[in-house]
Amino acid sequence: MRIFVTGSTGMLGQNLLPTLRSNPNYEIFAPTRQELNLLNYEEVNVYIKKLHPDLIIHLAAKVGGIQTNIKEPVEFLVNNVLISFNIIMAALNNNVPNLLNIGSSTIYQNNNFLINNQALNISPQGNEAYALAKMNSLKLCEFIHYQYQLNYKTLIPCNVFGPFDNFDVEIGHLIPAVMHRLYLAKIQNLPEVTIWGNGKEKREFLYVEDLVNFILLAIKQINNLPQNINIGFGKDYTIDEYYHLLNKIIGFTGLFKHDLSKPAGPQRLLLDSTPAKHFGWQPQISILEGIAKTYQNFLLLFQSL
Ligand SMILES: NC(=O)c1ccc[n+]([C@@H]2O[C@H](COP(=O)([O-])OP(=O)(O)OC[C@H]3O[C@@H](n4cnc5c(N)ncnc54)[C@H](OP(=O)(O)O)[C@@H]3O)[C@@H](O)[C@H]2O)c1
Repeated sequence: MRIFVTGSTGMLGQNLLPTLRSNPNYEIFAPTRQELNLLNYEEVNVYIKKLHPDLIIHLAAKVGGIQTNIKEPVEFLVNNVLISFNIIMAALNNNVPNLLNIGSSTIYQNNNFLINNQALNISPQGNEAYALAKMNSLKLCEFIHYQYQLNYKTLIPCNVFGPFDNFDVEIGHLIPAVMHRLYLAKIQNLPEVTIWGNGKEKREFLYVEDLVNFILLAIKQINNLPQNINIGFGKDYTIDEYYHLLNKIIGFTGLFKHDLSKPAGPQRLLLDSTPAKHFGWQPQISILEGIAKTYQNFLLLFQSL
């Protein structure tokens, strides 16, 4: 099977590629951004026409934590819409039979309010721009499946963390960014670390190896895979609890202080991942175990800088 993977240099890509490449039945093509600019439809179309893959695993996206989502909503919307539409439409136009699109649980964030004008409020308070782009690609895959009967399906993971994550304190997601901040606070002997918001919001995180295992299963069973499927850890923790779990591994000895003036995002986002379990998958790695493995990778990357 010829498999074209986008976003191979990212966190999920770097954790998925070694396993895919170790399977002799798979021939893997994973161009970097320098080799293939996904923002350019013509380049993408020519590449797919020449390669004629049996399956595309579409991981590439502009991804980041809440601070950078708030700062650059235009780039989050436009880049993500363009990248996904270019890949999915070039796949359709070249009759690629199978495509696994990676969505995000952020698409569910605005589901809970009564329909009034507020429903149109897309001021950049969180990651609406990213979520909107993810919703577009999910719908495009649905419509292609409906209109052309092709296997273009979307996996919807909760927050994911693991080795090769983005550990930037400004741009990274909660676990990698806080890991870096607590590490710096420990080695600099800082008296305190600030937590954004009141620390009571709950988030669901999945260790990347568990998502990789789901993708491996989905490749083999793509015909039976539901059109859209949630992939979550099944339990969420408060932001405060993540700080404490991280600190069990890192060992910063100062105090934690809350900054209530800072945005913290939605109160709660917990996926119902029952269909993924019925599909024969379940997470194997606890959050603490995942944090310990990720910290080993962080230390290696950090010490090599
Ligand atoms: N991380 C999470 O918590 C999470 C949760 C749910 C869903 N997801 C989804 O899972 C997928 C993988 O996420 P990740 O965490 O692995 O992200 P990541 O580490 O930020 O990697 C993103 C990948 O996309 C590539 N990319 C971005 N713009 C590109 C462009 N214009 N042309 C070519 N390549 C481009 C990046 O290339 P460079 O290395 O050159 O930048 C990188 O390989 C994404 O679709 C993301 O939305 C992630």
